[in-house]
Amino acid sequence: MLIESKDVQQVSNAMMNILHEEEIEIINNFHDAVLAKDIKKIDELFQVVLFDVEDHFTTEEDMMEESNFYAMQMHKSEHDTMRGKIKDLLKEWNTNKDPQAIQTFLEEEFKHWIVLHVARWDSETAMHIGDTM
Ligand SMILES: [Fe+2]
Ligand SMILES: [Fe+2]
Repeated sequence: MLIESKDVQQVSNAMMNILHEEEIEIINNFHDAVLAKDIKKIDELFQVVLFDVEDHFTTEEDMMEESNFYAMQMHKSEHDTMRGKIKDLLKEWNTNKDPQAIQTFLEEEFKHWIVLHVARWDSETAMHIGDTM
């Protein structure tokens, strides 16, 4: 298991916590397929990851916009950087079909990014938005 639920802190907005829980599960399944070097499964789950990450980021950005969060642009630019990295990774995957490249990205980059991003940006954003559910 790449990321445990407890690695990612709870924030003060239930919707955001649900998005994070779902993402952790999807990323862990993706990581399992990568470790198994199951090319077909990786192809399939990569699409699920793309959809889920976009849903996660867009939902937060919509919530920030609705509540006029003062640091929306800074928070969004962190999402945009990660969107770019995942897009580059997909391009690399489509060219080389090398599970090792995805493994390195997940273990050395994404895992730390999500933990820090939630602690730094999502927690502050959630405090501003409050609980919308
Ligand atoms: Fe988030
Ligand atoms: Fe975020």
